[in-house]
Amino acid sequence: MKRSMDRTSETIQTLFQPYKGILAADERPSSMDKRLASYGIPEGQAMRARCREILFTTPNLERTISGIILAENTFKDHETGGVRTKDFLHSIDVTVGVKVDGGLESYRGSDTFSVTKGLDDLADRCKYYAQEGVQFLKWRSVIPVTDVPDDFLQTISKDIATYACAALASDLVPVIEPEVLLKGEHTMEETRAVLTKVITAVLGALQDQSCDPKSCVLKTSFASAGLSAKEKPPVDTVAERTLETLNSAGAEQFAGIVFLSGGLPSEDAIAYIQRVRALGEQPDTPYSCSVPITFSYARALQESMLSAWQGREENVLAAQVAFTQTLQHAVKKYKGSEEAPLGGDGKNV
Ligand code: 13P
Repeated sequence: MKRSMDRTSETIQTLFQPYKGILAADERPSSMDKRLASYGIPEGQAMRARCREILFTTPNLERTISGIILAENTFKDHETGGVRTKDFLHSIDVTVGVKVDGGLESYRGSDTFSVTKGLDDLADRCKYYAQEGVQFLKWRSVIPVTDVPDDFLQTISKDIATYACAALASDLVPVIEPEVLLKGEHTMEETRAVLTKVITAVLGALQDQSCDPKSCVLKTSFASAGLSAKEKPPVDTVAERTLETLNSAGAEQFAGIVFLSGGLPSEDAIAYIQRVRALGEQPDTPYSCSVPITFSYARALQESMLSAWQGREENVLAAQVAFTQTLQHAVKKYKGSEEAPLGGDGKNV
């Protein structure tokens, strides 16, 4: 007899399907306006909503995208194709997630370190989202690559674990995103050191609150050098060091691992995930990873679409074609000379 899976295991399985990834479309209105402006696109609610609608109505999106993360305002207010966005996404078999953190505030007056707001009414919001058919949540914290004080690390890790417990109490899968910031001139080794500390601290905090990481998804940065670093290591090196770092920090204790693009050029973010996924699947190497891996990008997936769209209706088709091509590229696994077939499930998209 078929054993029914609990809701969170089912969500995890749905998110990590072969040749699919997660689209982060959860920018706050002010960040989204800045993004649009950087492409010469007028700002404002109407353009933000249109941008999301173009992304979400891209034909065959569900072949390469398993889940989409929305901002709370988008979840509540936006429509796609004349219906509530969440209903539209469910109709095309895309799993809906919501970013529930309340943004950042200075940690004890520091200019360097910030903590994430939003724990106060989180339990009620989790219940609301569960009733609304949401299946996963996201909480983002940020950690700069510098000397990270232990008290800061413990504070953000404890908040992350509190969030994860609240999400799981409503049967929602917590995506935990302690973003190690790639902005800066730091070396790959410096990124690695901070990544290791952060993942170790988060796992410790989860354990302290009896929260099983096997019900959580880790959203992490690559162990790449800073965006303005003098030396840029080759793709293979970044992929290898990333997997070594995650494995040594115990990231396989999570149900799965997704990557953010962190401001990396789209080409780089895509090359890294192609190589990381392929290497992670190779058995018996220092890079083998026993849990599924995919991308959960915002900028690296949206870049080509925004360049093609330019805010003009006559460019919508070209924008969707560009977005599809980026997605097809992102779901491939680069195994040296051998590549996985195009398309989410191997079909032509
Ligand atoms: P980027 O891929 O643009 O870094 O965004 C991912 C994300 O979810 C940041 O919170």
